[in-house]
Amino acid sequence: MSNRVPHIEEDKCIGCTLCTQIAPGTFQMKDNGKAEVCNPTGDTPEMIEQAMASCPVQSIIWKENE
Ligand code: F3S
Repeated sequence: MSNRVPHIEEDKCIGCTLCTQIAPGTFQMKDNGKAEVCNPTGDTPEMIEQAMASCPVQSIIWKENE
């Protein structure tokens, strides 16, 4: 099992919602218009990577799960 988890750098997020469309099991939109991680293992790593690559401001990164 991977010990890395996706993380959203909220300051960077411009609320484009792409990540929540590509990996809806992992990312959801908050009331403030920014995305958040709702379940770090909600989609396959490939889907999460695709969401990361699609974010126009690169605000989704992997973090070590400590
Ligand atoms: Fe925000 Fe990027 Fe998702 S701008 S809504 S983290 S695709």
